[in-house]
Amino acid sequence: MKILYAILFIILIKNTFYSQNDFGEFSKIEFNVTSHNDNEDMNMFSYLFETKKQLVDFIDLKKGDLVAEIGAGDGVNIGILSMFFDSIKFVAQDIDTKTLKNKTYNKVIKKYQNYSHKTQINTNTFELVIGTKNTTNLPDNKFDVLFIINSFHDFDKQDEMLNDIYKKLKPNGRFILLEGFSFPNDTQVCPDYGPHVLHTLDFELPRFEKHGFYANKMRSPNLKAVHYGNGLVFVKDKKLTEQFYENKNEIDGLIKQAYRLKQTAIASDSIIVKQITDSVSSKINTIVSVYHEFEVWMKDLGFRHLKKLEYKAGLNVFKANAIFFPDSYQAYYWLGFGYEKNKLYDLAIENYKISLHLNPNNSLCIDKIKLVNSLKNTNR
Ligand SMILES: C[S@@+](CC[C@H](N)C(=O)[O-])C[C@H]1O[C@@H](n2cnc3c(N)ncnc32)[C@H](O)[C@@H]1O
Repeated sequence: MKILYAILFIILIKNTFYSQNDFGEFSKIEFNVTSHNDNEDMNMFSYLFETKKQLVDFIDLKKGDLVAEIGAGDGVNIGILSMFFDSIKFVAQDIDTKTLKNKTYNKVIKKYQNYSHKTQINTNTFELVIGTKNTTNLPDNKFDVLFIINSFHDFDKQDEMLNDIYKKLKPNGRFILLEGFSFPNDTQVCPDYGPHVLHTLDFELPRFEKHGFYANKMRSPNLKAVHYGNGLVFVKDKKLTEQFYENKNEIDGLIKQAYRLKQTAIASDSIIVKQITDSVSSKINTIVSVYHEFEVWMKDLGFRHLKKLEYKAGLNVFKANAIFFPDSYQAYYWLGFGYEKNKLYDLAIENYKISLHLNPNNSLCIDKIKLVNSLKNTNR
C-alpha cells in the first residue's frame, strides 16, 4: 500500500510539473535503464541527477562502506545505487514488512544488476532490517553513509528517528537526504497516508542542526525551479561545513539574481540578462562547489518558462546555462531545444550538433536534427 502511495506521489509530481519530457531525458544514455519511456526505473534520482557523473560525485560511496537506506520501501534505491558502486555493504531498512521482504528485495536487486551489465562478480552485499516508528533497529556507530530518500515526510516520529539515526552513524559518517521541500509561500503536500505538508529547508536546516547534522553539500538552491526535490549531505563535525557556508554566503546573492531570469520582464531585457549571466559566470566554480547540480537546476528554470509557453525567456536561461557549462552536451542539447521552441531552426540544429560533438553517444540529437530539418522544410 505504501509503495502504491509512493507511486501516486511520483505520478502527482510528474503530472503536475513534468507534462513535457524535461527530466530523465538522458536516462537511457546515462544510466542504461531501458524498460519504459518515463524513467521510473531511476525513481527519485531521475529528478535530481541528469548524468551518471553527477550522481556518483554527489553520493560518493567508497569501497568497503557500510550503507543503509532508512525507509527503503522495496529496496529500489539500493538497486539503483548498486549499479554505480562496488564493494558496498547495503542495508535496506523499513517498518513495513509487506513492502520490504527478501523475495521482492532480491528481485529488485537482480533487475538492476541486469541493467548494470557488470562483468566482474558483483562485490556488493545486501541485507534488510525492519524497524519501528521511532527506531531503526540498526547497530550503533557502524554506518559510513545513511540515506533517507523520499521517505522523511512519511515518518510520524521525525525527531525520534533523527536521534536514532545520529547514533547509528560513525563520527565521520555522512547522512544523505533526498527529499521534496516546500518553499516560502509555496506549500507542497505529499498525499502519503493522508496529506503530509513538506517542510521548507529554512525550517529543516536548523532542526537538523539541533540533532547534530550539519549540511555541507546541496544538490540545488533553495528556490523552486520546476520541481520540489533537493538533495543534502549532512556531517556530524560542524568544522567540516565552514568552507561550504563561506562559499554559500558568497554566492547566494548571485543565485537570487539568476533566479530573476524566471521573471519575464527581466528575461526579455537582454542587457540585464547579460549582466546576470556575466556575474554568475565569474563565480561558477564556487557555485558548483555549493550547489552541485546547478546546471540541472538552471535547465529546470528554463523549463519553468517553457511550461508557461514563455519560449523566449526559456531560451535566455538555456543560453546562460550553455555559457556556464560549455563542456556539457546536455546544456547544448537544451539550448538547441530552446531554439527549436522559438522556431529558430538553424540555430537549433547548430546547437544539437555541438551537443552531439560533445557526446557522440547522444542519439537523441540525431533524432532532433532530423525532426528540426523536417520542421524547417515544412515551415512549421
Ligand atoms: C514514499 S515511501 C519511499 C520508499 C523508497 N525510499 C523510495 O524512494 O521509493 C516511504 C517509506 O517510508 C517507510 N516509513 C515510514 N515511516 C518509517 C519509519 N519510521 N522508519 C522507517 N521507514 C518508515 C514506509 O513504510 C515507506 O516504505
